Amino acid sequence: MRVAVIGAGRMGQVHARLLVGAKGVSGLLVADADVDKAKAVAKGLGADAAVDAAHAIESADAAIIATPAETQAFLVKAAVTKGCPVFCEKPFGENLSEARELATLVDSAGVLVRVGFQRRFDYGYHAARTAVLGNELGKLYLIRLQVTEQGLPPSPKTNLIRNTAIHDFDLLRWLSGEEVVSVYAAGAQRGTSEFDPRLDPDTIIVSVRLTNGVLAAVTVSRMSPLGYDIRAELVGSWDHVVVGWTGRTPVHSVERDSTTIGTNPWRSWQGRFEEAYRKQMCDFLDSVAGGNHSFGAGVSDAVKAHCIAEAVKLSLVRGEPVFLEVRS
Ligand SMILES: NC(=O)c1ccc[n+]([C@@H]2O[C@H](COP(=O)([O-])OP(=O)(O)OC[C@H]3O[C@@H](n4cnc5c(N)ncnc54)[C@H](O)[C@@H]3O)[C@@H](O)[C@H]2O)c1
Repeated sequence: MRVAVIGAGRMGQVHARLLVGAKGVSGLLVADADVDKAKAVAKGLGADAAVDAAHAIESADAAIIATPAETQAFLVKAAVTKGCPVFCEKPFGENLSEARELATLVDSAGVLVRVGFQRRFDYGYHAARTAVLGNELGKLYLIRLQVTEQGLPPSPKTNLIRNTAIHDFDLLRWLSGEEVVSVYAAGAQRGTSEFDPRLDPDTIIVSVRLTNGVLAAVTVSRMSPLGYDIRAELVGSWDHVVVGWTGRTPVHSVERDSTTIGTNPWRSWQGRFEEAYRKQMCDFLDSVAGGNHSFGAGVSDAVKAHCIAEAVKLSLVRGEPVFLEVRS
């Protein structure tokens, strides 16, 4: 199949690179609003550059949309209305109402659309989920999800909740098999005083309650001094497991017997999730080819993640817990 990658920035370049030589891919097209960038990326990979996104979609059997959130709805619509299967990077539209509108369109068109929540394909997160759903932890007491990354993104807004924490909101549901009932969030701006900490924090703590009564704590910050630190911890009555606690965890332990932590730390999501991005892309290609054993995120998962993100934003502004409407 011929695959078009639309958006040749940081994420699009990762996807394009992983598509070269991937099973079932006979041709690769790269498109970007910046045509010179598309040409340069395509040339580096031995792929073709398209003049624009419309031409790329027109001549592709599947489209990978890796453009900023604000441009995703338009591009997803263009592909879906032509019957072209889509892999769209998270967050899947600018906000909840756009995600809902897209989900309705996708459902009525009956076209395959997956959303880029690659942590589902990470070895450690997958093992933790298997343990929870297989009842290997016993009665679940507590979930802790945490991310600290380095540096503000190039955009004028941090958009920490919609662009980064949204991964954790998807994970909460996916790891636990439960829905989110309520959120209570606090935010701070520690890296720059430019933004209002209630509207655009660089650091958040969210207290979450799930449908089975389990409490979860989600902490996300852009302010890591040592690297890309991403972890999950699940405490049950029989076992207590952790994801992301390895020799590459960018944490400096001050204990005498813990010298292995923090060596050769992960610097960014590109390296930390390389294997997961690859598996996610293979899973998508397999689904386009007719496979039906995916555990990738669908459009309804993306809508639910947006719902949680909007509730977190509301909680920050109001300074109080926000309850979500949980539909069975
Ligand atoms: N899953 C993950 O771990 C992960 C990590 C980073 C980014 N992302 C997501 O990937 C998407 C892109 O992020 P990024 O960091 O690569 O951004 P980026 O700014 O590095 O790249 C975006 C590219 O899209 C191009 N573009 C913008 N509008 C376009 C349009 N209408 N048509 C064609 N090209 C267009 C830009 O010119 C740019 O080259 C975002 O949705 C982001 O949230 C996901």
